[in-house]
Amino acid sequence: MAHPALLLVLLLISSPAISSSKRILPKFSAIFYFGDSVLDTGNNIRLPTVALANHVPYGRDFPGKKPTGRFSNGRLVPDLLNQRLQLKELSPPYLDSKLSNNDMMTGVNFASEGSGFDDQTSQLANTLPMFEAVKQVNLFKDYLLRLRNIVGDKDASRIIANSLIFISSGTNDFSHYYRSSKKKKMDIGAYQDTVIQMVQARVKELHELGGRQFSLAGLPPFGCTPIQITLSRDPDRACVDEQNWDAQIYNSKLQELLPALQGSLHGSKIVYLDAYWALMEILEEPAKYGFTETTRGCCGTGLREVALLCNAFTPICKNVSSHVFYDAVHPTERGTNARASWRLGRSPRRPVTPLSPPPTPCPRLEGDLDGRPAAL
Ligand SMILES: *[C@@H]1O[C@H](CO)[C@@H](O)[C@H](O)[C@H]1NC(C)=O
Repeated sequence: MAHPALLLVLLLISSPAISSSKRILPKFSAIFYFGDSVLDTGNNIRLPTVALANHVPYGRDFPGKKPTGRFSNGRLVPDLLNQRLQLKELSPPYLDSKLSNNDMMTGVNFASEGSGFDDQTSQLANTLPMFEAVKQVNLFKDYLLRLRNIVGDKDASRIIANSLIFISSGTNDFSHYYRSSKKKKMDIGAYQDTVIQMVQARVKELHELGGRQFSLAGLPPFGCTPIQITLSRDPDRACVDEQNWDAQIYNSKLQELLPALQGSLHGSKIVYLDAYWALMEILEEPAKYGFTETTRGCCGTGLREVALLCNAFTPICKNVSSHVFYDAVHPTERGTNARASWRLGRSPRRPVTPLSPPPTPCPRLEGDLDGRPAAL
């Protein structure tokens, strides 16, 4: 059920014996997650920052029915993937003070909602100074010291070399770009190139620290999130084509980069995860996947409620299973699961380079309705 598609991708980078052996699941000693709210299983709520998803109705369908900081009614990709690969049930956030040795040895989660590849994004998302001090790669360095204390230098190096480093970020960089003064100084193409360089730098850094197997997700069609649609003020609630176009161009640049990057980093394997069509396919043919609502979140009116605006006093939709989005930005657990399943079911994937010309520019976002980042 969970994640056959991710598995397919991951098979490509797991150990060489895979095709001749009977083993079905790729075998990683550990998985480490880096990225934003799509992956953050609770790091941010442990920072002296606003606890964005640490309240009901987040976590309503999570084991134990409690909010954990996950932006969903249930589990996120890292939880589902860890479980599927039989590493463990969930994906523990590194900032959890109660991590067991086993948690440490099988991988932890460094993702932080509101963050991006661009450090300025994190600063913009949250003005609290603590935020920028908690760089995910720095936390990974801290983790490595602790791991060496637990298992010794040799085993620590082996665990890291056999691990998977799963990276999904970038949405926040672009949603801030659209609304910041950067837009005046740099056109979208130049900003995409800047972010691509940052991706390269981050992967290099993680490679220097011992990581060898990487999966990098492209951007989702963020012009289709309920909040972006609301901000575009389209009465028909169509996706914001211009933003989706920008995401696709970025994705093709990312895919051009990866083989070269792999070639330049000794012993590395890097695969691309297609987050764009994984979601777009569902949004285009929701009925096929059992969804009836694609442009509104389940929380509140579904038009703009996210984070603090999605709270104990917000009404909730009748049937969460029929919604792709839980709040105005983030998918439901079923939406997450369906996205991941798609990747196996549809192979080969659609061309990643858009075939049609870019849409004529439509009015850009006029501002944030609630003063919060449109994507977390
Ligand atoms: C809720 O939605 C799911 C998916 O669309 C559907 O299969 C199910 O029958 C719905 N349940 C109710 C009670 O309407």
